Amino acid sequence: MTTKTIEHMLTINDLSQKELFGLIDEAIILKQQLKEGIPHHHLAGKSLGMIFEKSSTRTRVSFEVGMMQLGGHALFLNSNDLQLGRGESVADTAKVLSRYVDGIMIRTFAHEKIEEFASAATVPVINGLTDSHHPTQVLADLMTIYEYKQKLQGVNMVFVGDGNNNMTHSLIQGAVLAGMNMKVSSPPGFEPGEDVWKEAEEAAGRKGQILQFYADPAEAVKDADVIVTDVWTSMGQEKEAEERFTHFQPYQVNKELTSHAAPDYLFLHCLPAHREEEVTAEVIDGPHSVVFEEAENRLHAQKALLKKLMG
Ligand code: CP
Ligand code: NVA
Repeated sequence: MTTKTIEHMLTINDLSQKELFGLIDEAIILKQQLKEGIPHHHLAGKSLGMIFEKSSTRTRVSFEVGMMQLGGHALFLNSNDLQLGRGESVADTAKVLSRYVDGIMIRTFAHEKIEEFASAATVPVINGLTDSHHPTQVLADLMTIYEYKQKLQGVNMVFVGDGNNNMTHSLIQGAVLAGMNMKVSSPPGFEPGEDVWKEAEEAAGRKGQILQFYADPAEAVKDADVIVTDVWTSMGQEKEAEERFTHFQPYQVNKELTSHAAPDYLFLHCLPAHREEEVTAEVIDGPHSVVFEEAENRLHAQKALLKKLMG
C-alpha cells in the first residue's frame, strides 16, 4: 500500500488504495448526513471553478450542488466564454484562476491538457472527464458497487463495449486499485489503451488479481458480479457514429448476454445512455440496474473528494 497523498485527481491512479477506501467511507457518511438533514459545511467560504469544454448534466449539477451543500460555492465557466477559448494559454489560465478559487474542475478533450493545467495550477485540479479518463464517475461507481455488495475486493467486474474510452480506462484502474477482478470485451480496434492496460496488468499480476481481455462478450460476462457499459460514440466522436454502430452491435448488453452473469449481478452505466444501442431498455430499466443510484452517488463521492482536496 503506497503512502502518497493526493494533490490532484487526474486519474484514479492519483489515489492510493487507502485513500480510495477512505473516500468511499466518507461519501457514505456524507450521504447519510444529507438524508438526515445534518449540516456538513466543511468547505465554508471556499470556491470551485468548473471549466467545461464538453456538455454535461450529472457532472456539472453534482459538483455545483455538492459545493453548495459543503457550504462553498461553484462557478460554471464555459470555455468559450473564457479567454481560454480565444487563445489565452492553458498555463496562464491555471495560474490566474488559482489566485481566485480553491479548486478547479475541468472537463476537456485531450488528457494532456488537464496535465498541463494541473502542473501550472497552485490549487487542486479535478478531472471532470477527458477523452482518456473519467475518475470521478468511477469513484461513484465503486461506491455504488460497495453499497450493494458490501465489498469490493474479489468482486468480478466486466466492461463490455468501447475499451478505448475514458470510462473503461478509469474502471480498469479503479478495479485494480480496489482489489477487484476486471474483464473487458471490445470489438477489434477498440481495445483499451496500451499504457493503461500494461500498467494495470502489472499491478493486477503483483496482487494476484484477474485482468483479462475477451473478444467474445458472452465469455467475458460469465459469472460477472457487475456488468458495465458506456456509449458507443463518446463526445467528440460524433462523425464516427455510423461506423462505430456496425462494430459495436454484437457487444450490446441485452437479456441474452446478461443471462451468463451471476444471478445477482448489478448493471452500471455512467449515463447518458442510448437504449437499444449499447444496452436494451429491458436491462437498463430492469431489476439489476442501479444506474440512478450510481448517478446520485456522483454527488456524495465528489463531496468526499472535494472535502479531501480542498478542506
Ligand atoms: N456521467 C456523466 O459524466 O454525465 P454528464 O456527461 O451528464 O456529466
Ligand atoms: N464515454 C462518454 C462518457 C460520458 C459521461 C463520453 O466521453 O462521451
